[in-house]
Amino acid sequence: MSKLRSVIKGCGSYLPEKVLTNHDLSKIVDTSDEWISERTGIHQRHIAADDEYTSDLGLVAARRALEDADIPASDVDLIILATSTPDQTFPATATTIQAELGIHEGAAFDVQAVCSGFVYALATADSFLKSGQHKCALVIGSETFSRILDWTDRGTCVLFGDGAGAVVVCAEEAGETPDNEGIIASRLRSDGRYRDKLYVDGGPSTTQSAGYLRMNGREVFRHAVSKISGVIEETLEIAGLDVEEIDWFVPHQANKRILDGTARKIGLLPEKIVITVDKHGNTSAASIPLALDIAVKDGRIKKGDLVLMEAMGGGFTWGAVLVRW
Ligand code: UT7
Repeated sequence: MSKLRSVIKGCGSYLPEKVLTNHDLSKIVDTSDEWISERTGIHQRHIAADDEYTSDLGLVAARRALEDADIPASDVDLIILATSTPDQTFPATATTIQAELGIHEGAAFDVQAVCSGFVYALATADSFLKSGQHKCALVIGSETFSRILDWTDRGTCVLFGDGAGAVVVCAEEAGETPDNEGIIASRLRSDGRYRDKLYVDGGPSTTQSAGYLRMNGREVFRHAVSKISGVIEETLEIAGLDVEEIDWFVPHQANKRILDGTARKIGLLPEKIVITVDKHGNTSAASIPLALDIAVKDGRIKKGDLVLMEAMGGGFTWGAVLVRW
């Protein structure tokens, strides 16, 4: 019996023009290229121009994804934007992108799960598409974290950057076996007891200001590998697949040491990890679709490949999505 599957039809990404290298940062705070490279694998990050907003970055990525999919914007009836740096407190930045794309039907909303945002948004779109409620979704991750960084705090400002990535996902009749293209399984998790390990110290209801990112990096690091590998194992189990069957591991790009540690723990070969954190730092919800787009466009990810995405972020939130490309 055939069933609806959410099939990724195209992807796109965008990085702002301005590049800030580790060397540039060493002139702003007491840090060095050596420290940042060794501890994180990051060499540079991109910074949005003053007049460039999260919606602008997301819009370029969305247009590129639609072009790649060869699907007109008018076919899209669902836009889910993962972001923690919206243009305004409300309306949802997704509605700005919807209007800019000339779409006046369907639904558009933001999802806020910090660095896990893209995985949350993709899993949400998958449920809507599989239920038949929507037919074609734009799932976008777009962030301007440079706006919520404390540029005097070397423990955080060296880690993050701005960027956007997007995928077009459409419902298609497909068989149920893992050989069929599309999203095979996903798992989302959160545990709010850890919300003070990575947070922003402001907000409309508390300080009436946007606030700045605060993080206990060591604590985040301590939880990352075990939480991520746990949810990956659960997702593979639901799909009835083994880790050896994964062709490409496209993780949230936070820190190379976390990626290497996770791959080691789940028994994945290092050459299967897509690593782009060196080029753009941690772009929160944008990092997975950015990495995905880079690996698709350079020919690594090909049709039929089994792709595993995962992320962990503030909340804590974490999750994984398994896709047959
Ligand atoms: O999506 C999730 C987002 N969050 C993350 O991915 C963060 C996860 N955590 C990490 O990646 C790591 O904890 C960091 C990269 C943030 C820090 O690495 P660490 O090995 O855990 O360093 P640490 O915080 O234990 O600090 C070690 C030393 C300290 O100096 P002392 O006390 O030993 O003298 C820090 O003050 O490094 C110092 N330090 C720096 N030195 C140069 C902290 N930041 C910097 C810096 N440059 N930028």
